[in-house]
Amino acid sequence: MTLRIAIIGAGPSGLAQLRAFESAERQGIEIPEVVCFEKQEDWGGMWNYTWRTGLDEYGEPVHASMYRYLWSNGPKEALEFADYSFEEHFGRPIPSYPPREVLWDYIVGRVKKGNLRRFIRFRAPVRDVTYDDATGKFTVTVRDLEKDHVYSEVFDYVVVASGHFSTPNVPDFPGLSKFPGRVLHAHDFRDAREFTGKRVLCVGSSYSSEDIGTQSYKYGAKEIIFSYRSKPMGFAFPEAFSEVPLLLKVEGNTAFFKDGTTREVDVIVLCTGYQHYFPFLPDELRLKTNNRLWPLGLYKGVVWEKNPKLMYLGMQDQYYTFNMFDAQAWFARDVMLGKVNLPSYEEMHADSLAWREKEEASETASDDIDFQCAYIRDLIDRTDYPDFKPEIMAEQFKEWKHHKEEDVLTYRHHSFRSTLTGNMAPPLKTTWMQQTDDSLTAFLANN
Ligand SMILES: Cc1cc2nc3c(=O)[nH]c(=O)nc-3n(C[C@H](O)[C@H](O)[C@H](O)COP(=O)(O)OP(=O)(O)OC[C@H]3O[C@@H](n4cnc5c(N)ncnc54)[C@H](O)[C@@H]3O)c2cc1C
Ligand SMILES: NC(=O)c1ccc[n+]([C@@H]2O[C@H](COP(=O)([O-])OP(=O)(O)OC[C@H]3O[C@@H](n4cnc5c(N)ncnc54)[C@H](OP(=O)(O)O)[C@@H]3O)[C@@H](O)[C@H]2O)c1
Repeated sequence: MTLRIAIIGAGPSGLAQLRAFESAERQGIEIPEVVCFEKQEDWGGMWNYTWRTGLDEYGEPVHASMYRYLWSNGPKEALEFADYSFEEHFGRPIPSYPPREVLWDYIVGRVKKGNLRRFIRFRAPVRDVTYDDATGKFTVTVRDLEKDHVYSEVFDYVVVASGHFSTPNVPDFPGLSKFPGRVLHAHDFRDAREFTGKRVLCVGSSYSSEDIGTQSYKYGAKEIIFSYRSKPMGFAFPEAFSEVPLLLKVEGNTAFFKDGTTREVDVIVLCTGYQHYFPFLPDELRLKTNNRLWPLGLYKGVVWEKNPKLMYLGMQDQYYTFNMFDAQAWFARDVMLGKVNLPSYEEMHADSLAWREKEEASETASDDIDFQCAYIRDLIDRTDYPDFKPEIMAEQFKEWKHHKEEDVLTYRHHSFRSTLTGNMAPPLKTTWMQQTDDSLTAFLANN
């Protein structure tokens, strides 16, 4: 009997899984019956922008955390799919840091070419997954939003590709409930123009804080204050920016910080990260982790050690993104096709612990990049996913880090060389601060 495989999510990770099967199919390999369940109306995951926040028209939590005017925060050369270059998609080299819509177009360009829509059921949030020890099969329960109908189907394998930057981590601070301005989590941020002329406090010191802060400044915010819990970002920000220790409380518009200082603010954006949240999985199948490079419980970062018929894609904190998801998906495919023989639970777990030990020994961002690079190398050496030279990309990431330290408002002006085509990206025609129209049409016309 043909194996049945359920993929949860049609973002970059779920699409990578579909592409992996399609690639095997093109080689004449008989592939299982694959069904991808996607709760949104279209594919692309986080890159599929919506103005909506909170709940959607069906009462489902809105997945998107991306906002208007978002540009890639890493060089596109370091996330390029090994089997589909940017140049192949756009027909010419484009600058290294494109806005969201350009990347969305690239992601879906590859899967459109392969006619992968046939595998996907849209508007189909997975509600529940159970595993039956007696039959060795999963039952996946899904809601068909358009028909308002709940149904269940049986599968041999389940691939969880539902992302982990959607369910916000929302701490409370005394006084927020009486704050006279707007308080929101980064997940609900959509349009920086809302903050023109305002004093914006961003709590958190990672990518969202930095990007929402610089983005708000680009669109006219008067002042940006970053509040850090562990350590400041330490970039050379312009004068309108400042970094202060953790927020303690707010009284009226006054924010009080751990070092005894206070600031007057109009808006508070909690850029406090996200939760790995899988409400459709029972305890024994559910990954429980914080956002880190080596979550435990996943052999090769993919296979659920306690039940190797369950796979997870893209659950790590990410330097590498699209090509790492591909590398994982190719590995998961080969496990499901029986091409990879998995060792015993004890051996898988010991392997994961060894990776965790290396992760914990990492001291700098540069070590972290090398760690994720070594992980990807380990994966691509095990499958026929093309070698995209992750080691060169690791050096690109280090250069990117350095550019950010030099100037966080201009790092997107730098160009990188594609490891696929060998071509250098052209520079942006005008500065990132000057390019306020982030549409695909404007970006391609202006650059
Ligand atoms: C604000 C922000 C900016 C980012 N910027 C960059 C960047 O510049 N460069 C970069 O490389 N990466 C960036 N990322 C990281 C980004 O998450 C990854 O690039 C990528 O989108 C992860 O792919 P994924 O498929 O694993 O998850 P997602 O893209 O989150 O896709 C998961 C999919 O699963 C679906 N889904 C969820 N639950 C269910 C369910 N129960 N049933 C059915 N479907 C479900 C969702 O609707 C979604 O389509 C950013 C992330 C955020 C939050
Ligand atoms: N393209 C873009 O430009 C762009 C923009 C935004 C986000 N992203 C992506 O989105 C992903 C998520 O980034 P993220 O910044 O949202 O999450 P993140 O990297 O996980 O960082 C979470 C931040 O929240 C802080 N935090 C958590 N709990 C807190 C609390 N109770 N009080 C104060 N601070 C708290 C953390 O502080 P500690 O350091 O103390 O733990 C950390 O600084 C990343 O992959 C990133 O690349 C990309």
